[in-house]
Amino acid sequence: EKGGYDHFMLKEIAEQPRAVADTLLGRVDANGMLTLDEVRIAASVLREVDKVVVVGCGTAFHAAMVAKYAVEHWTGLPCETELASEFRYRDPILDGRTLVIAISQSGETMDTLMALRHAREQGAKVLAICNTNGSTIPRESDAVLYTHAGPEVAVASTKAFLTQLVACYLVALYLGQVRGSARGDEVRDAVGELAGISGAVQEVLATMEPVRELARSLADRNTVLFLGRHVGYPVALEGALKLKELAYMHAEGFAAGELKHGPIALVEDGTPVVVVVPPAREQAVLHGKVVSNIQEVRARGARTVVIAEEGDEEVVPYADHLVRVPRTPTLLQPLVTTVPLQVFACELATARGNEVDQPRNLAKSVTVE
Ligand code: M6R
Repeated sequence: EKGGYDHFMLKEIAEQPRAVADTLLGRVDANGMLTLDEVRIAASVLREVDKVVVVGCGTAFHAAMVAKYAVEHWTGLPCETELASEFRYRDPILDGRTLVIAISQSGETMDTLMALRHAREQGAKVLAICNTNGSTIPRESDAVLYTHAGPEVAVASTKAFLTQLVACYLVALYLGQVRGSARGDEVRDAVGELAGISGAVQEVLATMEPVRELARSLADRNTVLFLGRHVGYPVALEGALKLKELAYMHAEGFAAGELKHGPIALVEDGTPVVVVVPPAREQAVLHGKVVSNIQEVRARGARTVVIAEEGDEEVVPYADHLVRVPRTPTLLQPLVTTVPLQVFACELATARGNEVDQPRNLAKSVTVE
């Protein structure tokens, strides 16, 4: 059932181009606009929404963090992201005009379920983004947008994450379309870009041998740091989470702008620092700042692993290892930059002799709080 792969995780990483494409299927009309008929929240209700809150745990929380950028960009609505496990223990301000988006692969995560119950008690509408048909979270939500990743067996989430990202972009664009905050050509362009992502992920997958080699060479390190900005920040967190759960290494993700506020003290001679670089074309200012960060950590001895889009020549002099990803718009970049980090973690786990599909102390679905 592993389809010739040594681990389910490897199979699921390889399935991502298909999973991403499937999650778009049937959701785009002949004019390139979105038809999310399954989202059974009336357009009139969606037009009244004045705030969006996105919740999830672990990897799903990282998708939620990316969703915030997409929702703000395409809807102009204030959007908060919260760990599902923290959400109901503060006093979140929710009412009938709040849309809560609950993201869960399994649909059974207790923290996420309790968060959505709390939201509904306050009168908020809840939209689930879920990979498991008929599971508890979609059943208890007002509506659901299913991700079409197919069953994910490995404890470490890979293809579910990419499809959660796609679903988040779809919801943000759909909200923008229904509310009139995203122009028709903007929706069509973004949908067209999303349609090209499957091929882009395939391209990344075809160039992963150097990443595997690099991972093997780092098997005896204790610490790996990950830096990113904007939507690259949740990608950095996701890269670190993968490494923790699979390789049992000390791995931390930071917003690159925080470096000088503390984390740079962690950098020692030879410390691997993985940096997710935003596209220079769209993010000239951020790009420049991230390139400076690469130089700063390198000056302190870091071994830099730079993930940057094709054509970005500015990073070349400061990259001890350079991982190229195809060009995408900034917002969609996590769909390609996450993939090398998954491969990296999987290979490091293997090199350290760990059980890839069943990491110690973890369960696929966490059904207790
Ligand atoms: O099933 P869910 O998406 O609700 O699960 C949430 C987290 O438990 C899950 O993403 C976890 O962090 C993964 N093991 C990460 O790879």
